[in-house]
Amino acid sequence: MNVVLFGPPGAGKGTQAKELAKHYQIPHISTGDILRANVRDGTELGKEAKGYMDKGELVPDDVLIGIIKNRLAESDCKPGYLLDGYPRTTPQADALSAILEVIGMPLEVVLNIDVADEELVTRLCGRHMCTCGESYHMKFNPPEKENVCDACGAELYQRDDDKEDVIRQRLDSYKEKTQPLINYYKEKGLLVDIDGTGAIDRVFSDICNILDQYK
Ligand code: AP5
Ligand code: MG
Ligand code: ZN
Repeated sequence: MNVVLFGPPGAGKGTQAKELAKHYQIPHISTGDILRANVRDGTELGKEAKGYMDKGELVPDDVLIGIIKNRLAESDCKPGYLLDGYPRTTPQADALSAILEVIGMPLEVVLNIDVADEELVTRLCGRHMCTCGESYHMKFNPPEKENVCDACGAELYQRDDDKEDVIRQRLDSYKEKTQPLINYYKEKGLLVDIDGTGAIDRVFSDICNILDQYK
């Protein structure tokens, strides 16, 4: 099952991908998570990426293409992949097609999770994250114990880029550079729209209804 989860910041890509990866037993590949791990570890890549991420701008294409090429070559991707946050520009999408052709795992479906702007801002302002990858929302998806991860017991934190001015910039970057990919994948016949509003469980079952066709 070869899938891209597409959508603006806060659409619920990470929330859904985590459950989908468990359900279908395929790896969840989030370029945002990979970049944040590099920032935390202080790698050269992390140092380069941090400046862009803190401003809500996209990290340069050549960096991302290198990351995704290496990640897709790992053996856990043999049964398929669930990409979250990649591709975000036309050059990234073109590079992805070329990489996938070489490894013989062409993309089967691009799920476009649709949520209105104001809802996105509310979701991101209230998001609390855990380093284990879980994400919560103070109101919409709270942990059992305030500020503590249900999955691993660690203390939750807010992402550096979940400040309102940076969120607005991320939405602008999305509209300018990423949204054009909707037509790109529509023209290839790969795009399926998903209504990203409503309960997390409902969105999950809508996505499963689509993905079950690719099992
Ligand atoms: P990245 O980490 O990918 O961030 P993003 O695209 O801005 O998306 P988010 O992770 O913020 O949103 P999400 O859709 O995963 O939402 P979530 O499920 O958490 O990228 C960060 C940065 O890295 C970029 O700005 C860029 O600098 C760089 N980068 C990464 N990839 C790149 C690339 N390919 N090229 C260039 N640069 C790149 O949900 C959000 C909140 O809503 C949570 O609190 C959640 O609990 C809640 N929620 C989820 N679903 C629902 C629901 N149905 N109802 C109510 N609340 C919900
Ligand atoms: Mg995410
Ligand atoms: Zn945790």
